[in-house]
Amino acid sequence: MTPTREALALHGGKPVRDTLLPYGRQSLDESDIQAVVDTLRSDWLTTGPKVVEFEEAFAAGVGARYGISFSSGTAALHGAAFAAGIGTGDEAITSPLTFAATANCLLYQGGKPVFADVCRDTLNLDPSRVASLVTSRTKALLPVDYAGHPADLNSFLDIAERHGLTLIEDACHALGAEYRDKKVGSIAHMTVFSFHPVKHLTTGEGGMVTTDDAGFAETLRKFRNHGINTGARERQREGQWHYEMVLLGYNYRLTDIACALGLSQLSKLEENLSRRREIAARYTTELRNIPGVVIPQVRNDASPAWHLYPIRVDSEKLSAGREEIFRALRAENIGVNVHYIPVHLHPYYKDRFGYRGAEFPIAENAYESLISLPMFHGMTDQDIGDVIEAVTRVAMHFMS
Ligand SMILES: Cc1ncc(COP(=O)(O)O)c(C=O)c1O
Repeated sequence: MTPTREALALHGGKPVRDTLLPYGRQSLDESDIQAVVDTLRSDWLTTGPKVVEFEEAFAAGVGARYGISFSSGTAALHGAAFAAGIGTGDEAITSPLTFAATANCLLYQGGKPVFADVCRDTLNLDPSRVASLVTSRTKALLPVDYAGHPADLNSFLDIAERHGLTLIEDACHALGAEYRDKKVGSIAHMTVFSFHPVKHLTTGEGGMVTTDDAGFAETLRKFRNHGINTGARERQREGQWHYEMVLLGYNYRLTDIACALGLSQLSKLEENLSRRREIAARYTTELRNIPGVVIPQVRNDASPAWHLYPIRVDSEKLSAGREEIFRALRAENIGVNVHYIPVHLHPYYKDRFGYRGAEFPIAENAYESLISLPMFHGMTDQDIGDVIEAVTRVAMHFMS
């Protein structure tokens, strides 16, 4: 029997697309490639002029005084945890609905993540649950801008000020986002970004911390360079061989090759952001009335950067749960994904801290229903249309 157009691909029908549309991917053009090639031909492959140029341009772009590059967003988070003074037995309060790296950076320092549940609308750390968790061991607050929607930063700044804490914002999803007309990167004491290929700007692997605090900037620079107080380029320039290691750091440096790519990508950030906003607006318009599909909510004081477009499946309105809807969309060749398994439910965290589930019901219930639709600035109008068609077909099929 020839499959009909109407049957879902899951049930043997023809998929909406012939090839898989990934949930995220990089876009590189000839100017990006040329920038890397030029650096390969230069005197410096690592920690040369491109690092400083990229850091300065990036910091200026988000409205911060300093930008300190790292070899990944994870390394940048580790640097921020160190600079915030997190040591053995210290705590920071964070969101369970995030990538494990957010919480892991505290463990690297011998500290402990203390999770609090998230807000129902944005799925960001809920400030109203945070204040009561602050103890004499708390050193930092570590909210995450889930999917690119800024966390409620003013509330966290208030709590941080009241208790003498450092506000580290995990903005790995939120480059280009705005909160109350201020750019993410210029608000928290330290803001952490990632340049993984699915992000708004890529350097392959890479990350950055932005800050207005000269002390944090200095510590971060040392921490990513073995704890050494000068860079190789400075020493060469000044004809000096002498350096001192003053703290226990790591080799978390981002190369000149990567920073050349970062600079080239930075020049396209605004364009890429507007494309992501266009894609989100079209998803929102065309999916908001589809039964069983709950679109992401945006607060009035936020302009998200749309790293992800996570929908929630309302299983009361459909005869299928998230797993089946996920499989049905995959069968249509739509590369959906799930962000995230709550951190405390990973085996490592369960074994080490004794979590069993049901500790953070809003995050856990959200996780059970979340599906991230493809979202990257290189998507064509046809790609967007395919996603909308597939989601609509699948939801209509399972309408109860
Ligand atoms: C919220 C969040 N924090 C941290 C990271 C770690 O960034 P990286 O992959 O650059 O190490 C990621 C990575 O995707 C992330 O999504």
